[in-house]
Formats: sequence, structure tokens, C-alpha cells
Amino acid sequence: MLHARGLTRTFRRGKEVVEAVKGIDFDVSKGELVAFLGPNGAGKSTTLRMLTSLLMPTAGTVEVAGWDVVKHPRQVRTRIGYIGQGNGAGHSYRVLDELHNQGRFYQLPAAEYRRRATDLIEALDLGGLEKRTVQSLSGGQRRRLDVAMGLMNHPSLLFLDEPTTGLDPQSRANLWEHISTMRKEFDMTLVLTTHYLDEADQMAERVIIIDHGQIIADATPDTLKRDHADDLITLSVESDAVSEAGIADALRDVVGQLEVTVRDNNTALVQLSTDDGPQWLPRAIESLRVASLPVVSADVKQASLDDVFLNLTGRSLREDAAAGIGQDGGTSAATASEGAAA
Ligand SMILES: Nc1ncnc2c1ncn2[C@@H]1O[C@H](COP(=O)(O)OP(=O)(O)OP(=O)(O)O)[C@@H](O)[C@H]1O
Ligand SMILES: [Mg+2]
Repeated sequence: MLHARGLTRTFRRGKEVVEAVKGIDFDVSKGELVAFLGPNGAGKSTTLRMLTSLLMPTAGTVEVAGWDVVKHPRQVRTRIGYIGQGNGAGHSYRVLDELHNQGRFYQLPAAEYRRRATDLIEALDLGGLEKRTVQSLSGGQRRRLDVAMGLMNHPSLLFLDEPTTGLDPQSRANLWEHISTMRKEFDMTLVLTTHYLDEADQMAERVIIIDHGQIIADATPDTLKRDHADDLITLSVESDAVSEAGIADALRDVVGQLEVTVRDNNTALVQLSTDDGPQWLPRAIESLRVASLPVVSADVKQASLDDVFLNLTGRSLREDAAAGIGQDGGTSAATASEGAAA
């Protein structure tokens, strides 16, 4: 469905040169849901804008559904939907007019775009808002309208740039439900960006981690966590005579990195970094019990995509996001209709 090779984009601002995307390669197969995950400024939006023909690559090639994006942007645009970061809809237009305008942009017959607009209003739970102006909608309603706009041409490939940023958890879950339903209905391939780690983990079948314009990992969330991060088992052991050596001996068959802190000769804190915490936990408890070192409390913290990012880059994506570094959400507000003018 999509092939990118050596995809590169450099921006020049006066004497400053920003290498936003540095020669990335990836493929997306039909039906996949792929999430680009990365901190602010990583190059996610720039990549999406090149994939959708809104921005010319400095170097490299992109093919979408068999068409070269640079040579045949029109052919590409009729097959894709693109929902930009920020809000693309015209603020003073009414919801229904926005959808109809989008239909006209795709040169659909009036009867067809009216029917599609009605269907999408129902599917995305926008009923009752048809006559409201876009600026009067809540953030979640606006994002659902954006998705409806992106679906007006029934694309086989939909690009979503941070579809859920700024929404409360309930609206995020709600939007995801709509996106999943639409995906099945239209048999769509989805490429999206997010910096919500939990969202990428739960929703994406494949995660491409991008940092400083380069792909640093590309796999399923489970594979990423297995290959690049450990689960952490924490146990409290209480016994008359605990010792570091005794615990290490009891746990010799449990695979992982062990750290034991003994307090007062009768309690010990055991920390075990391991590839599969839930699997090793009962075995560790049993091994300690057999050695007369009973476990009085236990905890498993499973590896997260943030651990993966931290291990790959030495930085925490969560901290970057919490600090709101470089929030430039307003730079690339473009829907397909704006894309045509770009
Ligand atoms: N039109 C432009 N002119 C100059 N520099 C740009 C332009 N667009 C993007 N950049 C720079 O390219 C880099 C990548 O930006 P991009 O918008 O792709 O990041 P992003 O991963 O989408 O970040 P965010 O999570 O904040 O949306 C940043 O350093 C940004 O400042
Ligand atoms: Mg962006």
C-alpha cells in the first residue's frame, strides 16, 4: 500500500538548516494500522505531509497504492484521506456545509456527497450538530468532524496526524471506537501519529518510533517491549535470616538481572529485571518459598513503550510530553481541501 525509500526533507530558515526527516525507509501493507510515535519535532508531521503529497521531499521516493506521490499527486489524493494536526475545518462554516464542501472537493455527485455526509454524521455521532458552526463545537466533536471529512472520499488509506491530542480520556476512547468501526467498514489502512504511549501500545498493530528525523525502531508493540525493555518484578522477603547470597542462590534458575537490598537481617527488597515478569513471578515466589524465604508482597511492572524509548534514546518520551516541549500544533492544520491549495 505504501513504500517510502530514502525519504528526506530539509528546511532552510535563513542560514539555519533543519533536517526534519533524514532518509527514512518503511513499508505499510494493506489493512495495517501503523502509528508513528515520537517526541515533538521528531519529524512525524513532516513525514505525513510528504506521504500525502502536501510537501515535496528533498530526496527519496514515496509510492502510495502503486502511484509515485511526487509524479502523480492527483492519483494519490483521490485514494487517501488526510486529517492534519490541529483543526483544518473552516471555523465559521456549518458542520453539514463543511462535509458537503469536502464532497465537492472530491468531485462527487451531489446526491452521493449528501448521502455520505448523512452516513458519516450518524457513524461519528455528530447527529444534532449539522447546523452548528465548526467554532462552536467541543474539541472532541471537532476531531470527530475532522475524521468524517477525511472519510468523505471513502479512502483506502487514511492518514491521521495526532487525532486525539488535547482530548480528555473519555473523548479519546470514544474517537478510537469510531475510528476502529470506520476502519472495518471501509476496509482501511491507517497511518497515524501520536505521542500518547498508551494509545500507540493499545491501538497500533505496528509502531514506528521516530526521533530526530530517523526511524529508530519499527515493530509490533509487544516485540518492541520484548526486545528493548524489561519487566520489573519487586518482591519483599521476610525471614529470620535473609542474606543476599541466600536469595541469589534461591533465584539462580530465574532468568534476569537481580538486585537485593537487605534490611535488618530479616527483610529484603528483591528487584528482578526480566523479559517476562508475569511468567517469572510465580516461579520466583515458589523458589524463594522452597528456600524458606517467604515473599510477603509482590509487584510486577510490565515494560512500556516509554521504557523502550528511554532505552533506545536515553530520554523519556513521557517527560518530553509532560514538559510540552516545542508544542507547535498550529503549524500544519490542513485537511485534504487545504492540501489542494498547498
Ligand atoms: N515549514 C517549516 N519550516 C522550517 N522548519 C520546519 C517546518 N516544518 C517543520 N519544521 C521543523 O522540522 C522538524 C520536524 O517538525 P515536525 O512538525 O515534523 O515534527 P513532529 O514530529 O510532527 O512534532 P510535533 O509532535 O510537535 O507535532 C522540527 O524541528 C520543525 O521545527
Ligand atoms: Mg506534528
